[in-house]
Amino acid sequence: MLYSEKVLDHFSNPRNVGEIENADGVGEIGNAKCGDIMKMYLKIDNGIITDAKFKTFGCGAAVATSSMATELIKGKPIEDALKLTNDAVVEALDGLPAVKIHCSVLAEQAVRSALSDYYTRQGIDPLPIVGEIKEPEE
Ligand code: FES
Repeated sequence: MLYSEKVLDHFSNPRNVGEIENADGVGEIGNAKCGDIMKMYLKIDNGIITDAKFKTFGCGAAVATSSMATELIKGKPIEDALKLTNDAVVEALDGLPAVKIHCSVLAEQAVRSALSDYYTRQGIDPLPIVGEIKEPEE
C-alpha cells in the first residue's frame, strides 16, 4: 500500500476543515509546480493556539498533511507550532511516499505563514521569529 492508514483516514475524514471568523492569523501558501494551495487560520489566545482550521485546494497528501498539522498545533503554545516541521507531520501520519514529501512542506509553511500574519497584526516583525516563508520548490 502506497499510503498509510493514517494518511487515508486524514484524507477521507480531514480534521479542522474550514475557516475561522476573526482569526488572529491567516496564512496562505501555494506550490507553483503542482498548483496546490493551502490556507491556514489560527485563533491565538495568550500565546496558545486555541483553534486551527484549514482549506486546501490540493492533492490528497496536501489535505492529509494539513489536517494532521492542525491537530498537532491545536492547544499548543506558539513556540511549539514554530518548531513544527514537515518531518514531524509526516511521522505523525506514519510516512508518505517520497514523491509526496513536498506536500507536507506546504502544511509546515502554511502554519508558519499564519503565524507570520499573527505577528504582523501585533505590530511585531515576524521575520526574526518565523523566518522566511518558502514556497516548496519541488
Ligand atoms: Fe501539490 Fe501535493 S501534489 S501539494
